[in-house]
Amino acid sequence: MRKACVIGWPITHSRSPLIHGYWLKQLGISGSYEKVAVRPEDAKAFLEGLDCAGYVGCNVTVPLKEIAYQTATEKDASAVAVGAANTIWLDDSRICAANTDTYGFMTHLTTTVPDWNERDRPVLVLGAGGAARAIAYGFLEAGVGTIRVANRTIARAEALAEHFGPRVKVVDWSARSDAARDACVVVNTTTIGMKGDGTLDMDLAHVDDRTVVSDIVYVPLQTGLLKQAQARGLRTVDGLGMLLHQAVPGFEKWFGTRPEVTPDLRALIVSDLEAAA
Ligand code: ATR
Repeated sequence: MRKACVIGWPITHSRSPLIHGYWLKQLGISGSYEKVAVRPEDAKAFLEGLDCAGYVGCNVTVPLKEIAYQTATEKDASAVAVGAANTIWLDDSRICAANTDTYGFMTHLTTTVPDWNERDRPVLVLGAGGAARAIAYGFLEAGVGTIRVANRTIARAEALAEHFGPRVKVVDWSARSDAARDACVVVNTTTIGMKGDGTLDMDLAHVDDRTVVSDIVYVPLQTGLLKQAQARGLRTVDGLGMLLHQAVPGFEKWFGTRPEVTPDLRALIVSDLEAAA
């Protein structure tokens, strides 16, 4: 029986076991996927011992994504772009790492709004952490000409722009509403609004009617930003789809079958989120 897990510190709130458990059952695969709490100081040894412990791989969540990236010997392009990994698998005992947040975000965006990409229009990314890096990389790969990045701490936005080159432009945090006006996509990658914590304070009144507004926060599912965008008549993309789609490549690597993100899976996670609220 193939065995995978998710590691983090803490790991209690991870929804990954529900997602992978659903697929294992639906596809009739005899495998397991469990949560393992791993302290940052133990993460390297845990990953190096995956094989001996009988695991075929794992997901990695905060605060271990950078350690996972450093520990791996093979890294995919997105992991290199972000400097962090969330998916680990073994290839002849070599530790391979991917960052599937880029895939998860872009797949959900494209599935929800297939015509989001208007090549003459920029994208606005709010935030400059690991998630912002993964998403900026996705937009670059998708051929977006200009990616504006606004972050409370401007030095982090500048570091991101320096990392990715001249197609990424830094915008002042105070100018974020103006920067949204002609954007084809506005995406919140900050933690603002998570569990109702704070509001993003964006003025969407003058945003182009075709703009798509996305939030990677999924607790609550309808964040203040998404509600505001809907009230303004804009198309929205929630954060849950990214969580579901980012899980697909790992499952395929570990268990050999590419799973699907279905309405049933989504409903299962939504009901879990509601039960925890
Ligand atoms: P992740 O790797 O998941 O993206 P992170 O690196 O902790 O997480 O990044 C969190 C993001 O949310 C950052 O862009 C952070 O801004 P700073 O770089 O200024 O810290 C942003 N953020 C969190 N709380 C915020 C707040 N109250 N106002 C504005 N930005 C906030």
